[in-house]
Amino acid sequence: MAKFVIKGGNQLNGKVKISGAKNSALKIMAASILATGTTILKNVPAIDDVITMVEVLSTIGADISFNSSTNEVKINCDNIKTFEAPYELVRKMRASILVAGPLLSRFGEVKIAIPGGCNIGSRQIDLHLKGFEMLGAQNKLEHGYIYSKVLSSASSSSGHTSISKNFKRKLKGAEINLEFPSRGATENIMMAACLATGKTIINNAAKEPEINDLANFLNKCGAKITGIGTDSIVIEGVEELKGCEYTVMPDSIETGTFIIAGALCGKKIEINNAIWDNMGIFCQKLKDIGVNLINKDADKTIIVKKSKTLLKPAYISTLPFPGFPTDLQPIIAVLLCTIPGISVITENVFENRFMYVDELNRMGANIRIDGHHAVITGVNKLSGAPVNASDLRAGAALVLAGLIADGTTEIYDIHHILRGYENFDKKLRNLGADIVKVN
Ligand code: EPZ
Repeated sequence: MAKFVIKGGNQLNGKVKISGAKNSALKIMAASILATGTTILKNVPAIDDVITMVEVLSTIGADISFNSSTNEVKINCDNIKTFEAPYELVRKMRASILVAGPLLSRFGEVKIAIPGGCNIGSRQIDLHLKGFEMLGAQNKLEHGYIYSKVLSSASSSSGHTSISKNFKRKLKGAEINLEFPSRGATENIMMAACLATGKTIINNAAKEPEINDLANFLNKCGAKITGIGTDSIVIEGVEELKGCEYTVMPDSIETGTFIIAGALCGKKIEINNAIWDNMGIFCQKLKDIGVNLINKDADKTIIVKKSKTLLKPAYISTLPFPGFPTDLQPIIAVLLCTIPGISVITENVFENRFMYVDELNRMGANIRIDGHHAVITGVNKLSGAPVNASDLRAGAALVLAGLIADGTTEIYDIHHILRGYENFDKKLRNLGADIVKVN
């Protein structure tokens, strides 16, 4: 079982380049199901979740290849014949649920295993299913699977066959009001609506930059999506989407992770391929705390320098974009637990995202959980210890804690981290960290 071994205390310095966004690349790969011909994706991160999505797509019959050294994916879905996504793959990665919308739109039916909950919460999909119903499908849950099907063509009696026999186009556009701006539901409904007949409006839609990236990809394939980046997305159904070449956006959560690394123990870190505006209020919040951050927009660069002043405790409340990103909540906690005074984190998006707290407390932090609040009393220093990564972002937080802790930290269950960070240890070593991956 692989682990990271970190000797704390090194000052970080130098340049790091941000990889492509996991939470965009996965959805764009799934969206290629909607297109005829070949799709070529660039800047796709070489992470385990991408490998799993390659498995999902090849399992349903896509002709797909991933070159991890050039970060390029080539996909052709012309010959996919099945609309079933098996349990083994969906349980491996929840984001597999994002093939449901494209398959339903293409075949008029889809059978997919219900993705269970994960360490950070129950992870419902009721809003996805409600959206499919509004577009004319009927959902049935049986034996751990969802079976969603358009019984009679919502648009016309015989169904609107188009381009080729396995594009059934049975869905019909509708106005959908989401109870919560769920990213997954917005993405699945937006993809399903692309080949539906008529107009779909998604109100209270999620606005994360990754949603915009997916919408821009779909428009490049010939979709008609407007209202991108707003909470009301409009999709005019079209006859056909054609594969295209597309470059995935940079990963804003990886960007935030390196910004915090710089705030914790950096002299000067230049973060390249980083987009300030994609970070929502995150950067402003760090500046309020006193972190020395410089936005070099024109060069897609963010610079973090050692702060000249004492950092201030803070109140953090996670919210959908442009609010404070829940994926950076465990990571900013590491910074707050070293700042003298009382800080409070309120987690509003997931019901169980404090799994890392016990591990940080084992390293000498002083954090108390009270419902969905974490009350942090700053300590002078952390000490290295053997700890466990419970999920992707909790794991990244423990790596950062290890960088500033006295002595050695060993992090177990790093498979969680490898799911979402490309060459994490190597990038940190290039900045001067003493971190090794031990198999
Ligand atoms: C995406 O998950 C991201 N994952 C998550 O990142 C991220 O934490 C999350 O959005 C919030 O920003 C991917 O993009 C692959 P949601 P998703 O639908 O789409 C509830 C990481 O670390 N909900 O916006 O599943 C749900 O239970 C991962 O990279 C319903 O109740 O998030 C949750 O509490 C972790 N019913 C909240 O909404 C639904 O039908 C947010 O879910 C859908 C969601």
